[in-house]
Amino acid sequence: MHEELSALLAQMPDEQRVRVAGRDFWVGHLQGQPVVAVLSRIGKVAAAVTATVLLERFGVRAIVFAGVAGGLAPGVNMGDVVVATDLLQHDMDASPIFPKYEVPLMGLSRFAADAAIGDALAAVAEGTLRDPAALVGPQAVDEFGLRAPKVHRGLLISGDRFVSTTAESMALQRALPDALAVEMEGASMAQVCHDYGVPFAAMRTISDRADDAAHGDFSRFVIAVASRYSLALIGAWLSTLPAELG
Ligand code: ADE
Repeated sequence: MHEELSALLAQMPDEQRVRVAGRDFWVGHLQGQPVVAVLSRIGKVAAAVTATVLLERFGVRAIVFAGVAGGLAPGVNMGDVVVATDLLQHDMDASPIFPKYEVPLMGLSRFAADAAIGDALAAVAEGTLRDPAALVGPQAVDEFGLRAPKVHRGLLISGDRFVSTTAESMALQRALPDALAVEMEGASMAQVCHDYGVPFAAMRTISDRADDAAHGDFSRFVIAVASRYSLALIGAWLSTLPAELG
């Protein structure tokens, strides 16, 4: 979201804007590492186009997605972080010709995220979330009840729907019991990265429980909490990379 990108751009000393396909790609450095920062835009097609431009025009060596998601599995609560191990499109269904969820002609329904980047993101998240007040301030901790945020590793599911009813959330949980959280882009970017043989990783801050209360003050949460998490985790992860990559 815009709020998350603005927080990243504020930490990039030398960003240059390059406009491709109606998107602003910000080329520069973050924590001394060369990066291209961009809004994925919302939905699977938009995110797939953004990923393709990153790979084709900018030749990036990996894509790391930061954003928000709705919690599905019990215990995946607002303010927690999910780092994907694999990603699936929950609205892909070409059955009975292909098994439900399988991407036709690929023979795959689950796309693996890069384990090394995911492990590194989860490790920095564990450290950072130990003291949420240091990251977001005591007021946001109270406002959003961020008492002891947790870091989860597992399946992220994506579809072209904002899940905002308890009935739909329950149906997804029944159909995909190991899904931790739902969002609208990750699995499409993972599919593009799979096609190109480039590592992909995704971290999502849980902004809602994908239920009847999921409309909440989304934008306020993104500004006050998720954008700070994204910046802290991406920044801390980049600073663990060897300098020669820069
Ligand atoms: N991103 C954040 N919350 C979401 C939800 N409930 N459904 C889909 N995408 C989301």
